[in-house]
Amino acid sequence: MLFTLMRLRIDNVVFSYGSSMILKDVCLDAAPGEILGILGPNGSGKTTLLRCINRILTPKQGRVALDGADIRDMSRTELSRRVGYVPQHHTSEACTPTVYEVVLMGRRPHVTWEFGEEDREIAWQAMEEMDIKGLSSHRFDQLSSGQAQRVLMARAIAQEVKMLLLDEPTSNLDVKYQIDVMSTILDQVRTKDIGACAVVHDLDLAMRFCDKVVLLHDGKVLAAGSKGDVLTPDNIRMAYGVDSVIDRLHGRERVLII
Ligand SMILES: Nc1ncnc2c1ncn2[C@@H]1O[C@H](COP(=O)(O)OP(=O)(O)OP(=O)(O)O)[C@@H](O)[C@H]1O
Ligand SMILES: [Mg+2]
Repeated sequence: MLFTLMRLRIDNVVFSYGSSMILKDVCLDAAPGEILGILGPNGSGKTTLLRCINRILTPKQGRVALDGADIRDMSRTELSRRVGYVPQHHTSEACTPTVYEVVLMGRRPHVTWEFGEEDREIAWQAMEEMDIKGLSSHRFDQLSSGQAQRVLMARAIAQEVKMLLLDEPTSNLDVKYQIDVMSTILDQVRTKDIGACAVVHDLDLAMRFCDKVVLLHDGKVLAAGSKGDVLTPDNIRMAYGVDSVIDRLHGRERVLII
């Protein structure tokens, strides 16, 4: 199998809903083998940015490129083979009622006619990674929010993409699964050398699992770079208006909101 790494580059993206400007000249870079945390207060444009990367929305200006190729020049299937998206809010998937079927749908961009044995194996493997095998025959629309979130993560893993776009992947999860899911994302990113852009609200979780961080504020990049450089008390105060300390405990930096 030909294995290529993929770099995401966003240059000067501007997006507006009608006359209201949401993203203002956003630039970022996400590399294979790394988790890029997308942080910022409610309404700062994080979801809008992921939707521009996945071409659900079209920027008014600027460019989104995967390995130098503009995503506007790709077919929807080509883009789906490269980029997987786990949305912040999900609606019930009426045509795919069971958990297994939802996860198997992740294979759709790779399949020309019908799913084969390999697709089924990949789907089961992804369900194993997300600890949802026991839910395989459950109806998707009857799951708890956290269970549904893990199902959609499994679907993105089964899609075998080069870049994962994850909008608040831990927002509905209990503390154990927050760590489990972030660890799985990190493991996927490191072992498969894929990239991930993850919107995270928990600054300490970002400090623990992300490699780089971009901090959005009012649709603009307030700071970007290594997590240690970006997650400082000054930047956190500017973005969120709260005080924090960065403390070292059990061998790693921790962000405490005070
Ligand atoms: N469909 C829409 N039409 C008009 N305005 C919208 C639409 N969707 C989002 N917005 C506005 O765009 C801005 C950015 O929204 P977005 O969902 O990207 O924020 P976010 O950073 O993801 O916030 P959160 O942390 O709450 O998820 C907000 O002011 C929001 O009200
Ligand atoms: Mg959002």
